[in-house]
This record gives sequence, C-alpha cells and structure tokens, in this order.
Amino acid sequence: MHTVTPSVRYIGVDDRTIDLFESQYKVPNGVSYNSYLLLDEKTAVMDTVDRRGTTEWLQNLERELDGRTPDYLVCLHMEPDHAGNVQTLAEKYPEMQIVGNAKTFTLMEQFFTFDLTGRKVVVKEGDTLSLGSHTLTFVMAPMVHWPEVMVAYESSEKILFSADGFGKFGALDADEAWDCEARRYYFNIVGKYGAQVQALLKKAAGLDIAIICPLHGPILKEDLGHYIGLYDKWSRYEPEVEGVFIAYASIHGNTAQAARYLTERLEERGMKVTLADVSRADMAECVEDAFKYSKMVCAAASYDAGLFPPMEDFLHHLRAKTYRSRKVALVENGSWAPSAGKCMRAILGEMKDLTVREELVSIRSSVKPETKAALDELAAWLAE
Ligand SMILES: Cc1cc2nc3c(=O)[nH]c(=O)nc-3n(C[C@H](O)[C@H](O)[C@H](O)COP(=O)(O)O)c2cc1C
Ligand SMILES: [Fe+2]
Ligand SMILES: [Fe+2]
Repeated sequence: MHTVTPSVRYIGVDDRTIDLFESQYKVPNGVSYNSYLLLDEKTAVMDTVDRRGTTEWLQNLERELDGRTPDYLVCLHMEPDHAGNVQTLAEKYPEMQIVGNAKTFTLMEQFFTFDLTGRKVVVKEGDTLSLGSHTLTFVMAPMVHWPEVMVAYESSEKILFSADGFGKFGALDADEAWDCEARRYYFNIVGKYGAQVQALLKKAAGLDIAIICPLHGPILKEDLGHYIGLYDKWSRYEPEVEGVFIAYASIHGNTAQAARYLTERLEERGMKVTLADVSRADMAECVEDAFKYSKMVCAAASYDAGLFPPMEDFLHHLRAKTYRSRKVALVENGSWAPSAGKCMRAILGEMKDLTVREELVSIRSSVKPETKAALDELAAWLAE
C-alpha cells in the first residue's frame, strides 16, 4: 500500500504485463495508473485507471471506501489510461457526480455512452470543490498534453494532483531512479508542449505544495525542488547535461565504427558522451538523450538515394517533439552517391534554433585515415 495521507488513499494499480504503453513505449518495469480516494464529509475519487486494471482498482476503491459511496469522481484527464473506467464507476454509483471542465465533458461524451444529465459539475480556472475540511481548487493546464487537462490543488494538506505532469514510466514497486524514466516519459509524451508546461509551472509557483500526486509513478513528498527544477529545465528546452549524444544508423557496421571512433576522441577530451544505434536502441530513450545533451551527432548510411530509414525515423520523432536549441553535426556514409547528409540536413532544417555544422563528414564505404582526420576535426568542433 502506498498511502498519501490518512485522508488521501492510493487506489491505483500497477501494470507489469502491457507490451507497449500507448502502443509505442517500451516499459520494461511496467507502468502505474494512479488513482486516489479523498475521504472527508464527502468522498472524491481522483481519476480512474486503464481498463487493464479495472478489477484490482475496484477492489482497492471498495476497500478504502469501507462501505461508503463516492460523492464525486474528479476527471483531470480524459485519456483512457486514466478515464478508462468512468462509465463503469458512473453506472456502479448512480448518485455520484462527475467533476470536469467543459472540454472534459465533450471528450467524455465522445468516449462513452452513459447519460450525463444531472451528473455534471462543470468547473473552470480557480473554481473550488469543498469536501468538508478538504477543498480542491482547479487549475487548467490546456495541452499538457491534451486540451482538457487540469490539475487540482488541495489546500488543507497542500497536495497537488498533477495529472500526467511529474509522471514516470515504471510500476510503483520498480526499484529505479526517478530522473531517467521520468525524463523519457516527459520528452516523449509531453515534449512538444514546453510552453504550456511553463504556463502551468508559473501558476503552480503561487501554490504552497508539500506533496505531488501524479497519474503515473511515485507520489512525490520530498525534495520537490529537484523535480520542479527538472520540469522547468525540460520545458524550457534547456539541455540538462553538457555533452554529446551520438546517434548512428549503420547497415554494415562502417558508420558504426566511425561513431565509436568519434566517441573515443570525445571521451579522451573528458567529454560526456552517449552512443546509440538507432536501429536497435529504444527510440524513446534516443529521443530523451537527444534532449538531455547540449550537442548531438547524427551519423547515417545513405539508402536508395535517401537516408537509411532508422535515422529518418529518429529525426522525424525529434521533429514531432520540437527538438530545438542544440548544436548538431552530421556524418554520412555512401558507397556510390552519398545522400544521407543532405537528407538529414533537410529534416533538421525544419527544427527551431539549431546550430548545424556546415561541414559534413562524408565517408566512402569504410573508415580510412582521412575519415579519422575529419572526425578528429569534428571532435575539436564539438569540444569548442
Ligand atoms: C539497400 C541499400 C541502399 C543503398 N543506397 C545507397 C545510395 O543511394 N547511395 C549510396 O551512396 N550508398 C547507398 N548504399 C550503400 C551504403 O550507404 C553503404 O554501403 C554504407 O554507407 C556503408 O556504411 P555502413 O557499413 O555503415 O552501412 C545503399 C546500401 C543498401 C544496402
Ligand atoms: Fe496522458
Ligand atoms: Fe497518462
């Protein structure tokens, strides 16, 4: 059991069997769908869980209700990993009111078929809901990362129910560091919406927060400055680490050899480097590392007068997440008419505020002394 406080009970579930979260993200340690029950004169369920966890969640809810019934269901986010059981709960407790904003109910009517007549409590920015000694204040967080998203602040215990904000991959019982899996979650799921996260952080700065209750991952009770600081940095698109992320896509290993050679030269200079084979590495981890570091090198083979698809795929992911404000250099390989460099430059050209090195390291099939010389020069440029 993961208690929040005596009157705020955790009723979420861990999912360790899902193959891909959102049909895209590998979650080797699973994921949690968090849900909370607020017990006061009135009771409020804070979001439901994914359909994959219905049975266990209902058991948790009934155990904590201990014979009571929920007065309210608060829906901070309508994505099915949280709102999957709205209809189930609404049918189980016909007296229960449902709290959301105008957009929440538009989406609710799209996702579900039950009759909402007389059951809606429509809230907007700054509205409050009193449960007795506990009061929830609603703060809109549009496009972090869906349009209806809002967060709720409970003032008596200083708890921020932060929706997907401050979420992390990994089941609650996973023994792993917060930063890495929260960063991978942030850049892949929220990454495009830095401006909207900044707007929310500015509003949250006016609140005295003691506990953050997100919809995925651990409840944060200590060292909140660390987590809020990272969210601030990430949403400003500021690099977290001075160093180089080297992403390569190699068909027969020669481009990979060049990438390894460059890694060694940079490490000799004492630089922090992460090397990834985008054909094999976890794509979401590559996206995360691109944002984490201040510089990036993309090294790829030419392919059918274009770019080897794994690199093309990676760059399209970066573009979708609005990768920006970094220093980037390119390495291409080609055996008869190298085309990878031009293709990579074109995709990067659609991104904001990048410094892309003019000079391209162009390899003809394999690493030769002149390749090494060009990579030495590239290492010097990256070290500047
Ligand atoms: C299906 C396929 C298509 C290729 N298309 C091109 C091309 O259009 N232009 C070119 O110069 N090389 C092309 N190549 C050659 C590779 O780019 C070249 O052999 C490779 O750059 C060697 O680096 P690697 O060992 O890292 O794969 C192609 C290779 C394959 C397998
Ligand atoms: Fe979400
Ligand atoms: Fe979520």
